[in-house]
Amino acid sequence: MRVECAVCPGFNAPRGSPPATGTHWISAIMHPMLTTAVKAARRAGSVINRGARDLDLLTVTTKGPKDFVSEVDRAAEAAIVETLHATYPNHAILAEEGTAKGANAAAEHVWIIDPLDGTTNFLHGFPQYCVSIALQHKGQITQAVVYDPVRNDLFTATRGRGAFLNDRRMRVSRRQHLKECLIGTGFPYRHGEHLDAYMRMMHTMTIEAAGIRRPGAAALDLAYVAAGYYDGFWEVGLNPWDVAAGSLLIVEAGGLVGDLAGDAEYLYGGQIIAANPRIFAQMVKLLSPYRDSLPPVTAPLITET
Ligand code: IPD
Ligand code: CA
Ligand code: CA
Repeated sequence: MRVECAVCPGFNAPRGSPPATGTHWISAIMHPMLTTAVKAARRAGSVINRGARDLDLLTVTTKGPKDFVSEVDRAAEAAIVETLHATYPNHAILAEEGTAKGANAAAEHVWIIDPLDGTTNFLHGFPQYCVSIALQHKGQITQAVVYDPVRNDLFTATRGRGAFLNDRRMRVSRRQHLKECLIGTGFPYRHGEHLDAYMRMMHTMTIEAAGIRRPGAAALDLAYVAAGYYDGFWEVGLNPWDVAAGSLLIVEAGGLVGDLAGDAEYLYGGQIIAANPRIFAQMVKLLSPYRDSLPPVTAPLITET
């Protein structure tokens, strides 16, 4: 019997024998829901790569202060939603650019989508952005895809089955001391309301860690923790679509994710620390005093439309 790869059209291989490339092999044994999510992410990636060919032609509007959206964000979201709904018409959707279908607290399956994470980078031709798709099942993230269309890097995870970068199993880093660690972050730039608290956190972390990076696409930052490129990451003010997929990648790669106090409220709470277990504990110790000095974050309402 031959197995058709749902992600790479035209490819099929005999079942049981390792196919030609790791990508085909992985997709042949992927969870069906993850296979659909990967298909959706690759379609969005094609939309993004086409848009990147001539950035000057794009129509860009602002959703709020320093919050841009282009026709590419919207077209990528449409491609993702269409692909997911072709297979799972009854699943709910919570997506950044406004597709909120049936996503209420009672929904069993909710796809949480950022069609283009790192829009500001994309609009400047700065090659650091991604597609992020996660499935929340009965309140738990069970499938995750972060796709970087610039490098063609595909980060995937299914709960309980490990995390992968393309065909390679991912593991978080093994560094044990913050002094040796490369730490990712994202600073508040839209409203500035967390800026004072953030600058104090930044001061502490700059002294304690080996280096700090702020590339500008939170979902990809989290994938980099899972891959062990960063030893840890923290940010305040993120939305569920920024963190849903990345959080499962990290847990499946052996890392920990929490809010600034290390508690579980990171998905809708707008604060996140993610790291290998040893570094997570050290970051929580340094950053938890700031948790209550931050204004409460208003999580997006999950409402039916
Ligand atoms: C943004 C990026 C950025 C983070 C912002 C996000 P967007 O997402 O992830 O790194 O600092 O808070 O809103 O708007 O480009 O999808
Ligand atoms: Ca985002
Ligand atoms: Ca976005």
